[in-house]
Amino acid sequence: MYRPVPDALTLRRMKNSYSARKQSFFSLSAAVVSLLLAGCALCAAAQAPVPDSPAIEEQAHAMLAKLTLEQKIELLGGVDSMYTHAMPAIDLPRFKMSDASVGVRTWGPTTAYAGGVALAASWDRDLAREIGEGLGRDARARNVNFLLGPGVNIARAPVGGRNFEYLSEDPYLNSALVVPFIEGVQSQGVIATVKHYALNNQEFNRHNASSDVDERTMREIYLPAFEAAVTKGHVDAVMNSYNLINGVHATQNEFLNLKLLKGEWGFKGILMSDWDATYDGVAAANNGLDLEMPSPKFMNAQNLLPAVKSGAVKESIIDDKVLRLLRTELRYGFTTRPQFDPADSTYSVADRATALKGALESITLLKNEDHLLPLDAAKIKTIAIIGPDAWPAVPGGGGSSEATAFDPVSIVTGIGNLLGPGVHLLYSRGLPEMNDVFRNTKWDGDVKVATFPSSDFTGTAVTGTRRSVADWKPNQWEPADATPRSIRYTAQFKAGDAGKYLLIAAAAGEDAFHVLVDGKQLLDQAHAEGQVPKYVSIDLSAGQTVNVQADYLPHAAGSRFGFGLVYEPDLISADAKKFASLADAVVLAVGFNAASEGEGHDRTFTLPWGQDALIEAVAAANPRSIVALTAGGGVDTHRWLDKVPALLHLYYPGQEGGTALAEILFGKHDPEGKLPVSFDRSWEDDPSAKWYYAVPGADTTLHTTGENGKPLDYTIEHIRYGEKLMVGYRYWTTTGKHPLYPFGYGLSYTTFRFSNLQAPATADSGSTVTVSFEVTNTGSVAGAEVAQLYVSDPSAKVDRPERELKGFDKVRLAPGETKHVTLDLDARSFSYWSDSAQKWIIDPGKFVIRVGDSSEHTPLTADIDLH
Ligand code: BGC
Repeated sequence: MYRPVPDALTLRRMKNSYSARKQSFFSLSAAVVSLLLAGCALCAAAQAPVPDSPAIEEQAHAMLAKLTLEQKIELLGGVDSMYTHAMPAIDLPRFKMSDASVGVRTWGPTTAYAGGVALAASWDRDLAREIGEGLGRDARARNVNFLLGPGVNIARAPVGGRNFEYLSEDPYLNSALVVPFIEGVQSQGVIATVKHYALNNQEFNRHNASSDVDERTMREIYLPAFEAAVTKGHVDAVMNSYNLINGVHATQNEFLNLKLLKGEWGFKGILMSDWDATYDGVAAANNGLDLEMPSPKFMNAQNLLPAVKSGAVKESIIDDKVLRLLRTELRYGFTTRPQFDPADSTYSVADRATALKGALESITLLKNEDHLLPLDAAKIKTIAIIGPDAWPAVPGGGGSSEATAFDPVSIVTGIGNLLGPGVHLLYSRGLPEMNDVFRNTKWDGDVKVATFPSSDFTGTAVTGTRRSVADWKPNQWEPADATPRSIRYTAQFKAGDAGKYLLIAAAAGEDAFHVLVDGKQLLDQAHAEGQVPKYVSIDLSAGQTVNVQADYLPHAAGSRFGFGLVYEPDLISADAKKFASLADAVVLAVGFNAASEGEGHDRTFTLPWGQDALIEAVAAANPRSIVALTAGGGVDTHRWLDKVPALLHLYYPGQEGGTALAEILFGKHDPEGKLPVSFDRSWEDDPSAKWYYAVPGADTTLHTTGENGKPLDYTIEHIRYGEKLMVGYRYWTTTGKHPLYPFGYGLSYTTFRFSNLQAPATADSGSTVTVSFEVTNTGSVAGAEVAQLYVSDPSAKVDRPERELKGFDKVRLAPGETKHVTLDLDARSFSYWSDSAQKWIIDPGKFVIRVGDSSEHTPLTADIDLH
């Protein structure tokens, strides 16, 4: 996550020039643009950008002509973390930015929507537009000109730390949702910024990891959502990612930025860097980057003035960047109107309603044995709500998207509000806090501590003893200590009962450690990994004694390390077990939160520590235990899924999640979410698993770049996307194997029938093919179905995924109601990318259209012969 770096000089310069001129900014002439915007100054559309025009081009060029080369270069870098650079010489104020995908989070409390993967689970284009509009209005009310979202990277692997903030595993679904989202934001006069371009599909080592991918895979899987954002959504800003792509950083990647984005796709807007994602000023300038955020560390006068002088960077390239900034800002009228409109609100009841709608539409019912759900509120006298995610609310994951909602509704309060007085609600967190686990570990004797004056456990150690090691302190930043130190803790542990024991250790993300049990390394953390804690479940026999050794390398002055070993059943609070046994039903709120799933680190596929044991214990105490899971994608359910009758996937449901869950649990709303990602049985099963990490040594190369003239060497990790096109359901349907729950799957309290598929038997390849079918609600309650259309190309000359999503529609049906659905399939629906021909190709022959309610359940099929 970006931590702001104060830029005092720029701040001072800005203050002097800005305050002198701020009175006059909005009255200054931009005659032509004002004219274009005049006439609808009071209507909503007044805020929407106007298209580029000769008049705007003329004005932008006139402004450019007034600038010296130094001033032009100044415009290419941000200031104060979240602003573009002002330029008093042309009466240009600075423009404000905010993160992003789930709420306008940078400038105070806000509305937090069911964004990212939750929005994708709704499969609702109208909802995407509505959320976009809400974000746009909210941004404008805070004087924000640029919204730094949406994020559209493909969920390649379930452990990806920011999947929750992105959309789905499928390029078609992402493209379908990103377009109305962007249109919604930009309709409010706020620039949307699609990110992170491109192939930022994991969080580990994100500055130094190279996503090594063949062109076909990029074009078919990883780039379509960006392409749609530009060519269909007309997004006006794009953010380059941190990572490298095929060995070249995104911010200086000619193929992505010049050939595709600004070439083939015709992008005329602003290409900005992610925060500190620029690595070489001259290379970035020459390869498409327009704006370096958050400050001009590389694209600055020191680097670019000599480069222009020597001819290494042409001045016309600098001019093009400045024109992009000016053109876009003029099109939005930023220089002629205040962004804040007195009619705007920063707290909006209407936006709360949209947030609730999003949560209701996305929560996905995955298991409902014997129709346990919906619960009958009249029959519930006592309900237990147990688990770390029950209270407080967990609206979103962590990092730069994390929004502080005004009044987030927790699962406890949502269910309590719905049930009202008269029902006993028993809440227990169920698990202790982490430091308590460390503190209460019953070591057999003292823990021996040896502190070495080196970073490799050599030299003469200072020794001592402690009862336990519980120095874990979250969110505390201490100055780095130049003195090297390494600390070795050794202890003995004697098991009581036979069974599963939790070995757990936590340190600051920048620290490193290894934990060994009887000489075998069971936990480790490398420097700069970010996620805490590390844990593993081990089986010990009754009375077994083990030797534990924890080797800790602190990065900063203070020690922020803790480790422990505990019998899993002892973790579970007595209250949780008692409440579960007393209740008519239990809601088990488990999963991740902003600390365990977020930007800058990947998450585990297993649930956070202790939660498997918690579910097992509670399910043993009450067979009516319903699991409500908060996570950006699939998790390991193997220890408990067959022990619980119901499972709901909440993703991150935004601020109204508790209300939405309650309405679904008690049948006030029919569950309608559909998985936007395949839900694996195990991490090893995932098609990306064996390619996800670079092979140490074999897949690393030394890279050299020049920071302000000084060479800088660093090692990059090459992540080879060896599964190629076989991402998510493409892999499962092609291999004929099955994940735990397939892409597109989700249960309902009603039932639907698909019928009457009509498709032409033959069609011209390249023409649009129209297919239609019917969906009927055959059950007894109102509900919504997502009709999904997959295309197969069995006669292709190249290997293709067995089926690919190429159309969908969400239909809302009363009991007994039927709706006719028509879907158009354009040429791209049948094409594949040929690297050798360098174009999209349709092989004439047989195609199969499949329609159904998941990637694995498609009751309707029809053949089409394309010639
Ligand atoms: C994130 C971006 C975000 C930026 C500004 C970076 O750390 O990767 O997504 O927009 O910070 O907060």
